[in-house]
Amino acid sequence: MVPSSFNLIPFDELRIAGPPNPVLSGATVLSSTMFGWSMVLEGPPSQAIIARRSVRTYSTDPIPADVLQSLEESCASHPPAPFGEVAEFQVVERPFKRGEPVKLGDYGLQRNPRYFIIGTVTPSPTARMSYGYLLEHLVLRATELGLGTCWMGYFNPEYFPELARDGVTPAISVVGVPERPRLGERLTRRAVRADKRKDWSVMFFDGTFERPLSREAAGEWAGPLEMLRLAPSAGNGQPWRVVRDGDGTFHLYLHRVKKRYHERGLHDVDIGIAMAHLELAAREAGLSGEWRVEDPGLSAPDGTEYRVSWFTH
Ligand SMILES: Cc1cc2nc3c(=O)[nH]c(=O)nc-3n(C[C@H](O)[C@H](O)[C@H](O)COP(=O)(O)O)c2cc1C
Repeated sequence: MVPSSFNLIPFDELRIAGPPNPVLSGATVLSSTMFGWSMVLEGPPSQAIIARRSVRTYSTDPIPADVLQSLEESCASHPPAPFGEVAEFQVVERPFKRGEPVKLGDYGLQRNPRYFIIGTVTPSPTARMSYGYLLEHLVLRATELGLGTCWMGYFNPEYFPELARDGVTPAISVVGVPERPRLGERLTRRAVRADKRKDWSVMFFDGTFERPLSREAAGEWAGPLEMLRLAPSAGNGQPWRVVRDGDGTFHLYLHRVKKRYHERGLHDVDIGIAMAHLELAAREAGLSGEWRVEDPGLSAPDGTEYRVSWFTH
C-alpha cells in the first residue's frame, strides 16, 4: 500500500525541540524499505520536507547518543550519487565557544553550532548537484530525528581538516538540538525572505518556457513539484526552473540568480537538493522515474541553463 496523498502536518507540531521527534519516528511510521522511498528516511519524506527549516539557534545540549548514532548510520548508508560519483559523509563535533554567535559563513550567525554534517564527492562536472542531492537526504533524516539543520555554503575549511583534499565540498550543514530563534535569526530569515517561495508560474512550465504549468494541469505530479518548491537554496534564491514536456518528462534548468552563488557552484547544489525533493516526494506518492542528462534543446530564457531530467515510468 502506497500513500496516495500527502498527510500534511502543521509545522509547529513537528518542530518539537529535542529528539526524537515522536510524530515522525513513532512506531506507526512504516519502513521506507517497504515503499522504496529512500535508503535514509524512515518516515514519509513530505513530512520531513514540510517540517524542515533552517535553524541558526541551537541548544548547548549534546545530541542524545542514540539519535547521533542513527544520524551517523544514515551518513554511512546514504543513497548512491545520482551521477555516479563516490561520496562520503560524517558528523563531526567542533568546540566553538558556547553562547556567542559564530560567523561560519558570509551571512546568518549561528548560535551554539556544535555538530556538522560534512562530506566530499569525487570531482566531476556534476559533483555539486550530487552533493546537494545526498546532503539533503541527510538533512531530511536529521529533521525526522527531531534535529535542526542549516546548510552553509560559505564556511572556513580550516575548521574541518577531516575533509578529503582531493574531494569536492561545496557546502556543509550545521546540525543540533534546536532552540527557539532569537532576534538575530529572525532578522536573517527576514533578510532572505526565508518563509517565502516563488509562485508556481515563475518556476514550473508546460511544454515551453512561455506557458506556466498550473497545479491542476500537473495532476498527480502537483504534490512532488510542491515539495520541490519548498526546498532550501542558497540565499533562498530558488534557482529551479522545471519544464514538463509532452511525454511527462520533467526537465530541470538552473536559472542564475546571483553571480557569486553561481560561480561558487551553489546554484548547482540547489539543483541537487531539488532533485532529492522531487524524487523522494514522487516515490512517496507511488510515482516512479529516473534521472538522466538529455538536453531536450528547448529555447530557454537568458541566464537559464539545462541541467537534468526526470523521466517518468
Ligand atoms: C547551498 C546552500 C547554502 C546556504 N548557505 C547559507 C549560509 O552560508 N548561511 C546561512 O545562514 N544560511 C545558508 N543557507 C540557508 C538558506 O538561507 C535557507 O535555506 C533559505 O533562506 C530558505 O530558508 P529555509 O531553509 O528556512 O526554508 C544555505 C542554503 C543552501 C541550500
